[in-house]
Amino acid sequence: MATFEATAEAAAKNLESGRTLRELSDLFTPMAIRVAITLRIAQKIDAGRLTAEALAADTATDADVLERVLLHLVTIGVLTRNDRGEFGLTRIGEDMLVENGKAANPPWLDLNTVAGRAELAFTRLLDVARTGEVAYSAQYGTSFWDDLTRDPSSGTDFDVVMAGGMERRIREIAEAYDWGALGSVVDVGGGNGTLLTGLLHAHPRLRGTVLDRHAEPALRTFEDVGLGERATATTGSFLDPLPPGAGGYILSRIQSDWNDADVRTILSHCLEAARPHGKVIVVDEFATEEGVRCDSEDDLRMLVYYGGKERTMEQVRALAADVGLSVESLRKAADWTVMELAPAEN
Ligand SMILES: C[S@@+](CC[C@H](N)C(=O)[O-])C[C@H]1O[C@@H](n2cnc3c(N)ncnc32)[C@H](O)[C@@H]1O
Repeated sequence: MATFEATAEAAAKNLESGRTLRELSDLFTPMAIRVAITLRIAQKIDAGRLTAEALAADTATDADVLERVLLHLVTIGVLTRNDRGEFGLTRIGEDMLVENGKAANPPWLDLNTVAGRAELAFTRLLDVARTGEVAYSAQYGTSFWDDLTRDPSSGTDFDVVMAGGMERRIREIAEAYDWGALGSVVDVGGGNGTLLTGLLHAHPRLRGTVLDRHAEPALRTFEDVGLGERATATTGSFLDPLPPGAGGYILSRIQSDWNDADVRTILSHCLEAARPHGKVIVVDEFATEEGVRCDSEDDLRMLVYYGGKERTMEQVRALAADVGLSVESLRKAADWTVMELAPAEN
């Protein structure tokens, strides 16, 4: 995103909208919106609870405080308020009606979800710069992933966000590479099995296993789509040695969640399991090669949530080389790349 054109575009947008540095950086507007989303204020207004008193009674909050929060949403054009003190939704306010995880409101706007909590760790960004700490873990005393494991409903939301909008991409990823020739794959950190399902549908000879912190979401997916014995899932960690013997070990959107040392560990576990003839296949949208980030928003999210980063293809290739993997082929799948790696000695 940080190309010169994008910078110029963003600067022009700020000028056009008259936004000041203060407006770009205030915390009260984002927090007021997140509080309203967390309390399902839009749904309650839609259901006829219109005054601050009615809304407070329905959300177990203080009416005076809630009214002050809602009045800020009136100020910024998310809510309306009439002279009877009744709140309504503006066009943008209606976006709050969309349930979490389904469309407009990703779970990170709901302060009760793990992702919503993760966003709050951005207040530690200066500490991250000074000490290199992982902001989420420093804030909550536990890692993002351990929190997701403890809270299955947030885990499901996260899987839904990850799988969202993937249909077309998965078709292109399935076409970009001869997955069937691998015979079997382990989708390492394969979430709820969405990618593996697409690959198995497109390649009838292929069998596969998802390995993730929880096997259940993928097992449910495979049962729903009737893949039978061709697909299974197992609970495990890619920070530990992986089950050996598959033809391919897929790492889809994994590397950016981890720091360089952990990526080397994960890649070397894939390599050990894949030896002597298997492949390690990184599927990802890489940062651009110009030395600037393709997506600064995601890059900062990776940093704060997990201590990870958005990497260029070259950076991933270098980490793979560190553990003895070399690039055999690169295939484009829309804006994604399928990077086939094999033991360097082959
Ligand atoms: C960004 S998501 C990517 C999911 C999927 N591969 C995709 O492309 O949609 C990262 C995945 O890594 C999994 N994960 C995190 N830590 C893990 C670990 N130590 N071992 C196995 N899986 C892990 C998460 O549960 C999540 O499913």
